[in-house]
Amino acid sequence: MDRIVIQGGTRLDGRIAISGAKNSALKLMAASLLTDEPLILTNMPRLADSRFMGHLLARLGVRVEEGPGAQMQLHAAEISDTFAPYDLVRKMRATFNVLGPLVAREGQARVSLPGGCAIGARPVDLHLKALETLGAEITLTEGYVEARAPKGGLVGGEVDLPFASVGATEHTMLAAALARGETVIENAAREPEIGDLAACLTAMGAEVEGAGTSTIRIQGREKLDGITHAVVGDRIETATYALAVAAAGGEVTLDGAVWAHNKALWNAMGEAGVTVKPVENGVRIERNGARVKGVDIETQPYPGFPTDAQAQFMALMSLGEGTSVIRETIFENRFMHAPELIRLGADITVHGNEAVVRGVERLKGAPVMATDLRASVSLVIAGLAAEGETVVNRVYHLDRGFERLEAKLSGCGARIERQAEPAES
Ligand code: UD1
Repeated sequence: MDRIVIQGGTRLDGRIAISGAKNSALKLMAASLLTDEPLILTNMPRLADSRFMGHLLARLGVRVEEGPGAQMQLHAAEISDTFAPYDLVRKMRATFNVLGPLVAREGQARVSLPGGCAIGARPVDLHLKALETLGAEITLTEGYVEARAPKGGLVGGEVDLPFASVGATEHTMLAAALARGETVIENAAREPEIGDLAACLTAMGAEVEGAGTSTIRIQGREKLDGITHAVVGDRIETATYALAVAAAGGEVTLDGAVWAHNKALWNAMGEAGVTVKPVENGVRIERNGARVKGVDIETQPYPGFPTDAQAQFMALMSLGEGTSVIRETIFENRFMHAPELIRLGADITVHGNEAVVRGVERLKGAPVMATDLRASVSLVIAGLAAEGETVVNRVYHLDRGFERLEAKLSGCGARIERQAEPAES
């Protein structure tokens, strides 16, 4: 297993190219199941998670080919299997999104209940309720979901989500695109990735209105077309590098970052004393000299502060002047990075869903353990700012969601490298 070794205390200066959004790419890949024509995705991030989704789709009969640059072609001329086994679904929650498209196109499917990061219970009840509203008959047996469409296929319906779940909104949109008639999603999630999926489904021939608002209307089609679609820039990767620059100090332009997709973060960083500004096709981050100030945040569905940037923000706040209170409202059990940050010298107390971070003047390098995707990158951020050497173990979590992380950071002067972890004696 690899580990990442960082010699901290170096400023970051230069440019970082932001990749396509992982969370969008995975759902767009699932959309390939909706058409017998090729779906070509450009600006695709090259990640363990997208490869993993590719394996599952290939198993279902999709021809998946990585093209030149950041391109991927997915062609589901025929669906050869509607069974998604535990082994291919347990590692990553987004794979569960194949259920709706399979039922919509083939009339039935059997998909394992998902796994994913260990950040709380993360049920799929809202996904299943939504599919039932579209007419699917759902049964749960031995860890598998079996779904069957009525004769004539799924039918549009009114899906009222009790919580604005990202996954349930996207799953409903995917299924509704091939359902008869109109589906209305109330209390829909408003994340930019939803807008990206809506744009793709619309180009494929479904009519999707209202993405980015709480009411989304989808007019389903009997047949959808193959198209080419560019994946939206990754706002969480953007947030991560922005916070890395803020923690280590320096001046970096994030090329391909979308300013409008991270307003809550820019406000918090501005309050902390970091300079953030939109530039042509990107965002510029600057922190020279002065220590950042402690700022309180609370994670919220978009457009609120993203839960996926909470760990990285905590890494920055551990070096802030004064105290910062961080409340996590989306996932329980999402402070697993706190004990690891404490190993680097941070002063953090966690009570339930609230962490109190009393900023320290400096962090000191230490060996730490990655526990989930976003937690692990918060340790990289802390390591970049810490004095001395930080070793982040179990970096497979990082590889799930960050493309060429070491190359992107070392291109800005960071002293960071990947090493093979020595075998335990
Ligand atoms: C997506 C993102 C994830 C991000 C999250 C919130 C992907 C691949 N992942 O996850 O990175 O952190 O949005 O922005 O896009 N819930 C239920 N029942 C359901 C569905 C969700 O109770 O059927 C709960 C979850 O347990 C959680 C909350 O709703 O507490 C948020 O989940 P959701 O918005 O669905 O997130 P994901 O789509 O899983």
